[in-house]
Amino acid sequence: MKTYMRSLTSALGLSLWLLPVVVSAQMNHGGLHEKSPSKAVAVLAPTEGHKAFGIVTFTAVDSGVRVVGEFSGLTPGKHGFHIHEFGDCSAPDGTSAGGHFNPTNMPHSTPSSGKRHIGDMGNVEAGKDGTAFIDYVDTTISLSGEHSIIGRGLIVHEKEDDLTTQPTGAAGARIACGVVGVGKP
Ligand code: CU
Ligand code: ZN
Repeated sequence: MKTYMRSLTSALGLSLWLLPVVVSAQMNHGGLHEKSPSKAVAVLAPTEGHKAFGIVTFTAVDSGVRVVGEFSGLTPGKHGFHIHEFGDCSAPDGTSAGGHFNPTNMPHSTPSSGKRHIGDMGNVEAGKDGTAFIDYVDTTISLSGEHSIIGRGLIVHEKEDDLTTQPTGAAGARIACGVVGVGKP
């Protein structure tokens, strides 16, 4: 009888000790789902000496993230377009946004490459009037988890991303900068 009581007490003690662990694990799990946005948005403003603007929305779809953007104040032709590591546009030249967002330690490449910086979204191409429009589904970026772009920087460059030169694509100066924020679904 004594042995039975002792094992009952220790079993109770153990389960009481485990209770907070189980409860907090369930709360974290629920919280993670609530915090996964279905939409994100970035508003790009010109860096010093430039006049490029843009609005880009990111919407979670079955095959990835649909990226829709409108830009103005560009020179005609292609301009590198990337997610950068930091959501910090405080430097006049945009360098505070850091390098291309690359949490998986891959080389710089094309948007369609399986081995690319998460931030490699290629180029936007402006017409003679200096405006550009993009609408494509990116299968690498995400709005949650390790590849999440929420809170990162979005940059448009002065020159074309050649999709080859490491680690920047030789796209030149940063002419517009924005931060990817949680969007209203
Ligand atoms: Cu860039
Ligand atoms: Zn890159």
